[in-house]
Amino acid sequence: MAGACSLGLLLVLLVAVVSASLPVAVVRLNKAALNYVSDIGKAPLQRALQVTVSDFLHRSGEVLQSTRVQILDARLHRLHLKFIAGLGVRLTAATNFTVKVFRVPEPMELMLPVALLADVHVAWDSIGTLVLSISTCYSLFRPAGMPDSSNSTSQELRDLVQEHIGADLSNKLCLQVSGLVQDLNVHLGTLIGLTPVGPESQIRYSVISAPTITSNYMSVDVRAILFLLGKPILLPLHGSHPFVLPWTSGDEGAMTTVGLSQHLFDCALLMLQKAGSLNLEITGQLNSKNNPLNTSMLGQLIPEVAHQFPEPMPVVLKVQLSATPVATLHTNNSTLQLQPFIEVLTASPNSALQLLFSLDVMVNLNLQLSVSKAKLRGTTSMLGGVQLSVVTSNVGAIDMDQVYSLISTVFQKPLLDHFNALLGMGIALPSVLNLHYVHSEVSVCEGYVVISSGLAYQH
Ligand SMILES: *[C@@H]1O[C@H](CO)[C@@H](O)[C@H](O)[C@H]1NC(C)=O
Ligand SMILES: *[C@@H]1O[C@H](CO)[C@@H](O)[C@H](O)[C@H]1NC(C)=O
Ligand SMILES: *[C@@H]1O[C@H](CO)[C@@H](O)[C@H](O)[C@H]1NC(C)=O
Ligand SMILES: *[C@@H]1O[C@H](CO)[C@@H](O)[C@H](O)[C@H]1NC(C)=O
Ligand SMILES: *[C@@H]1O[C@H](CO)[C@@H](O)[C@H](O)[C@H]1NC(C)=O
Repeated sequence: MAGACSLGLLLVLLVAVVSASLPVAVVRLNKAALNYVSDIGKAPLQRALQVTVSDFLHRSGEVLQSTRVQILDARLHRLHLKFIAGLGVRLTAATNFTVKVFRVPEPMELMLPVALLADVHVAWDSIGTLVLSISTCYSLFRPAGMPDSSNSTSQELRDLVQEHIGADLSNKLCLQVSGLVQDLNVHLGTLIGLTPVGPESQIRYSVISAPTITSNYMSVDVRAILFLLGKPILLPLHGSHPFVLPWTSGDEGAMTTVGLSQHLFDCALLMLQKAGSLNLEITGQLNSKNNPLNTSMLGQLIPEVAHQFPEPMPVVLKVQLSATPVATLHTNNSTLQLQPFIEVLTASPNSALQLLFSLDVMVNLNLQLSVSKAKLRGTTSMLGGVQLSVVTSNVGAIDMDQVYSLISTVFQKPLLDHFNALLGMGIALPSVLNLHYVHSEVSVCEGYVVISSGLAYQH
């Protein structure tokens, strides 16, 4: 008993610790998203409504006659979806069925208008996905029309046939809708799949609570877990407030509004830093344009270098980010602060690298964010100058005024190229299989980023 209790307590603590340190994003679907779903959902729903009708049994004098009834065409001419606060989504559809009744001597065609209504309850499953289910469904059969001229005998038959079709179809149509909703659940489940970020890193999103549904939108809190070599990246949360996306954020007319907390950026940068992806080596060859640094060049500024290396030798810069870059999100302004450690080494063809001196560097970068496909990407540019200070030197005293412009020039472009390549690969946003973000606008707010975007489903 005591064991079970302490195990329970341990689990509670563990869950509390883990949830406090995992970044959260908010995904809000607006009315425009439902309009899009109703657009792309028309064709599959219309196909699904093409069901088979069982034979029509009726008494003709003393004998029971069986007449075949077939749906020739189901034409969905209206599909409308709207949010129902606290529940989910209401589907209303209007369909015209063209039905053929194979009566003797000649068959009869009927035009049968049907209104379909289904309430789809949106719930949350503890594995981290949304789960849809039909809570109400019914169909309303309106009086059938007959394209061909009719007389009273066929009108009587028409009423009987209509009654038969109504009884036969009302369940079948709802079952078909339910089948589509099940397919959608499978699709929604792909949210929690692992998406690669780099060669050894992944991100996984999962829904952490029941969605909030109003008549205007549905909002879902989504947790992001970044993995490096299969291990989650955990960071203590700055401050104690959980991330909340102000409901006024973003463009209400956009299909979706996604809010990404500062914590996600912190974790992503920590992951890149831990993976060593941020480090770079600026290798020099003699007469190289990429790295114009060589010992004869440095020797003009640092006499000891000229003394130690009378023959010109290439110079290598080893740039290591031992401290995690810091992303700062202010209104309309996102920046990255880096503190690289640079080792300046000579690379002679036959001997090991030899350290000339090392530097602590401070660089600020402007971070421009954009979205393409379902990824958030970044580009950087220099923000102000580079600050350099010598840490160690094997070449005597270094006059920073002399060396500054050479080192900062050699270092800036490769650093920006490296960061732009890395951040340009981007990090997956919460999405499901084949769903892309289109026409996205990214805005930076105080402590979080908001993406207003359209969605496009690509089969
Ligand atoms: C559907 O049927 C109704 C009633 O028969 C008719 O008025 C309407 O034009 C039809 N709509 C389409 C799109 O076929
Ligand atoms: C009415 O329709 C039925 C079936 O098509 C046909 O057998 C019958 O002759 C028709 N009666 C008249 C008066 O047109
Ligand atoms: C050393 O670097 C300078 C400046 O980039 C260049 O002009 C010179 O040709 C280089 N020397 C050698 C031997 O590569
Ligand atoms: C941020 O940018 C938007 C759009 O460019 C502008 O409307 C807004 O006033 C800016 N906010 C601040 C605080 O600069
Ligand atoms: C962004 O903020 C940084 C400081 O955090 C500042 O130096 C820079 O000028 C700002 N940029 C813009 C475009 O406001």
